[in-house]
Amino acid sequence: MTEGSVSENIKKTPGGNQWSRLRIGGFFVLIAFVIASVYVSNGIIFSAVHFNHAVENSRNENLNDLTRENQNGTQNKSQEKTQIKTQSENVSQSKSPNLVVDEIQQVIFAKVHKAASSTLQNILLRFAMARELDVLLPRAQDHINEFGPKIDPKVLIEHARGQQFNILCNHLVFNAQEVAAYIPSSAFRFGILRDPLSQALSALQYYTTYYLNPGTTMWSAVRKYARDPVKGFLDNPHEFCNERSAYETQRCTLDNRMSMDLGFDTSRMFQSKRNKTKIQEFVSQIERQFDLMLISEYFDESMVLLRRYLHWQMKDIIYLRVNAAVAENKSKYVWRRDVQPDTIQLRTFKQWAAVDIALYEHFLPEFLKKIKKEHLFHEEVAAFKEVRSNVADFCKNPRNSTGQVLNIPDSRWTQKFSVSVSDCEVMRFAEAQIVQKARIQQLARFYRSQRLS
Ligand SMILES: *[C@@H]1O[C@H](CO)[C@@H](O)[C@H](O)[C@H]1NC(C)=O
Ligand SMILES: *[C@@H]1O[C@H](CO)[C@@H](O)[C@H](O)[C@H]1NC(C)=O
Ligand SMILES: *[C@@H]1O[C@H](CO)[C@@H](O)[C@H](O)[C@H]1NC(C)=O
Ligand SMILES: *[C@@H]1O[C@H](CO)[C@@H](O)[C@H](O)[C@H]1NC(C)=O
Ligand SMILES: *[C@@H]1O[C@H](CO)[C@@H](O)[C@H](O)[C@H]1NC(C)=O
Ligand SMILES: *[C@@H]1O[C@H](CO)[C@@H](O)[C@H](O)[C@H]1NC(C)=O
Repeated sequence: MTEGSVSENIKKTPGGNQWSRLRIGGFFVLIAFVIASVYVSNGIIFSAVHFNHAVENSRNENLNDLTRENQNGTQNKSQEKTQIKTQSENVSQSKSPNLVVDEIQQVIFAKVHKAASSTLQNILLRFAMARELDVLLPRAQDHINEFGPKIDPKVLIEHARGQQFNILCNHLVFNAQEVAAYIPSSAFRFGILRDPLSQALSALQYYTTYYLNPGTTMWSAVRKYARDPVKGFLDNPHEFCNERSAYETQRCTLDNRMSMDLGFDTSRMFQSKRNKTKIQEFVSQIERQFDLMLISEYFDESMVLLRRYLHWQMKDIIYLRVNAAVAENKSKYVWRRDVQPDTIQLRTFKQWAAVDIALYEHFLPEFLKKIKKEHLFHEEVAAFKEVRSNVADFCKNPRNSTGQVLNIPDSRWTQKFSVSVSDCEVMRFAEAQIVQKARIQQLARFYRSQRLS
């Protein structure tokens, strides 16, 4: 729940004329919203240009005032963790897991790159939109920050002074204090990790396809090893990212990227990744700061475990995969699929990705232990997979008649629910599209509440 409605916060704010300017801006945004809605309802992915222009007009110098009144969310995380665990034991032991109430609505998801995290973001944004929860969103594009943990209030979507948000699921470099200014630290915090070798190779293919800037270290290396970039990387990862240079490392998209996204200090990466104490401290920090680390290789198990911990419904975790793979033919290079690194490559990679590997090796067994404690867990996963496969079939071929829906009946594991063609569309949205949809909805709500106040 948000603390204090937007309108209450506005009344408390001194300097009313600032707000009237904002209201006029809000009017433009509402018009833009109407235009945008028309585009959306026609099923066209609209250009963000008109919309962002209106937002730009409405922007004023008071943005800093709109943020960060409420610095303090520093509650006791370890107490909260215990509470969540016992609740979840109660839930899984109860006779009807589908009749869970008191769903958790304050959720922080630390989105790391290339680990099925866009699929999770899609789930969280749909959850938020269905309940009109406030999401901590950037004004433009997808990242709240990228190369350091500071959250600049100016990059955030318009919000009332001191407003607390419910959900965070956009890319950022996680830092508990920075985030606590916007979402209470009692929120449920979770992340997802992927096998570090798959993650690195997926990142290599992705970044060299979409973000290969001439002159960079990665650019030179990919050209040098053009015949087989995967082998080139496995033999000589340091040629793809200069781990010795702070400048390069902070912009390096391949070097222990999951850890970097979770807040590992990259400023002396070359030394840090060889420092076992430092790595161990980081793993313990993540253990303290997060309630749950999911594992990408067990995606459906992860979703079911998440559902149980959050007291959500099965319908809340239904998904179609997004951003799963790089479009094959966009890449100039041939990418080997089943890579079996040899002994030397493996040793090289273990040094190169030491921080990510330490995280994964800690949290994979933790995850499996958590699953083991759950009652009738695999039964639920099987039921979930079946429903998901029905949804995937329906979405692939919704039999063209408008208004067609797929009905999922009541069962031990779910209340009945239905999936419509437009649900399929939203589930298929790429990251940029769903973030934009959430942004439009939230801004419209924000300005509406201001006009009414
Ligand atoms: C937040 O709480 C801590 C500890 O309770 C306190 O030291 C700090 O001054 C508080 N910060 C703000 C901005 O209220
Ligand atoms: C948080 O709770 C734990 C366990 O209940 C306790 O040991 C610790 O001192 C508490 N920390 C703070 C800052 O209150
Ligand atoms: C489980 O739920 C019951 C109420 O149904 C409650 O009294 C009990 O404290 C809960 N147990 C735990 C461990 O939270
Ligand atoms: C390793 O990391 C620890 C903890 O951050 C630090 O105290 C120590 O100085 C580091 N050692 C080296 C050799 O950098
Ligand atoms: C990629 O190109 C190949 C050969 O030109 C073609 O058969 C394949 O369908 C293409 N794949 C995609 C995803 O467009
Ligand atoms: C669905 O659309 C296809 C063409 O897009 C058409 O051939 C087919 O008859 C339609 N099916 C139904 C049930 O309307």
